[in-house]
Amino acid sequence: MPATIIVGAQWGDEGKGKATDLLADATELVVRYQGGNNAGHTIVVGDEVVKLHLIPSGVLYPHVTPVIAPGVVVDPRVLLEELDGLDAKGLDASSRVRVSGDAHLIMPWHRELDRLIERRLGSQELGTTRRGIGPAYADKAARVGLRVQDLFDAGIFAKKLEAALDHVNLVLTRVYDQPAMDPAAIRDEYLGYAARIAPLVTDTRALLHEALERGARVMLEGAQGTMLDLDHGTYPYVTSSSPVAGGALAGAGLGPTAIDRVIGITKAYVTRVGAGPFPTELDGDLAETLTERGGEYGTTTGRRRRVGWFDAVVARYAQRVNGFTDLFLTKLDVLGGLGELRVCTAYVADGVRHEHLPPHQSLIHHAIPEYETVPGWEGDVTGVTRYADLPAEARAYVELLEARCGAPVTWVSVGPGRAQTLERAGAAARA
Ligand code: IMP
Repeated sequence: MPATIIVGAQWGDEGKGKATDLLADATELVVRYQGGNNAGHTIVVGDEVVKLHLIPSGVLYPHVTPVIAPGVVVDPRVLLEELDGLDAKGLDASSRVRVSGDAHLIMPWHRELDRLIERRLGSQELGTTRRGIGPAYADKAARVGLRVQDLFDAGIFAKKLEAALDHVNLVLTRVYDQPAMDPAAIRDEYLGYAARIAPLVTDTRALLHEALERGARVMLEGAQGTMLDLDHGTYPYVTSSSPVAGGALAGAGLGPTAIDRVIGITKAYVTRVGAGPFPTELDGDLAETLTERGGEYGTTTGRRRRVGWFDAVVARYAQRVNGFTDLFLTKLDVLGGLGELRVCTAYVADGVRHEHLPPHQSLIHHAIPEYETVPGWEGDVTGVTRYADLPAEARAYVELLEARCGAPVTWVSVGPGRAQTLERAGAAARA
């Protein structure tokens, strides 16, 4: 049975955790394919709020095998803390999670350099999560990274660690005037994780291939979003991996023919954390209202998210880059009672109108959004259980986004709980 990819259609925080959790019900493997513990997925099950950063959201279903694929960067301390937290809730994650030996390790200097580089950039900082993600991927690309499998050979680990620190300590001491890092302390800390991590490590590619050959359903769960993609996002205000659908294939080790569904997750408005262009960004009272109502504070860093109107230019771009078969629209409830709503359908930059994302980054920086204004709706929709029971204006809004994005909205989320999701019959037929 072919696989499904879940991808963020905006700048992250679209609600992928909730979507994955909901759809994982009928899935055997849920795979993280990129990023690391910069992600933050909040899932609400009954009265319980579970926050995950590294482990795939499907872990909440006991029948799911959560997989961390080669494309992910793993901070072993965070992995073990998250496993302990889930085990303490009775979820028995330690016996189910599987980790690729090819995944790269986030080392202490990656976190430290992330912080120092941002500090050096000052007002030009990217606003990273400071989790060491960029420096870990930089080492991977420079072919000096340490991988999960290195934890199981103390000799190789020590050799690679020393080689890396030879360079890193020069940078820390000479460029940043910081103390050098002690190889023995890092070796002891990391090799101390090895015994607990060893039973989790497996050939995740073979696990996936065999599951697909058996006819099992597999889900590839993206972190961050299309506009944070290293190649296709608003560079340099991006993360250092590839959240898009193509990145799922490379990060997990699958070919495109293994995929039959690509689900784009998109909020009914837009948020972004960290610096970078955001044409539909709002400020003032409306921004305040959206932030508070939507609880728009980062799961990982607690930072306040920037908020703005729905941007159909971005959504269309994400649709083209990922080839969405469906959209999963989240947080529709947050827009109730706001009066008229606006949807950005084009940008105007340097006097030129762009219906598609302009090819040059500086045009996005000073793009002026062109809006379509539509009536809003009154009242609370968080208790609505059928799409047909939404206020007519809310349905018209959903259908407008669907028309502007060019992909069918199959699910509409009206609250954080699993049950607060409306599935639209026949959406696929309208695509
Ligand atoms: P990094 O991934 O920590 O290097 O951060 C690079 C950029 O991606 C920053 O603007 C972060 O705020 C953003 N970012 C990273 N992870 C997430 C996420 O899970 N949600 C939203 N933004 C993120």
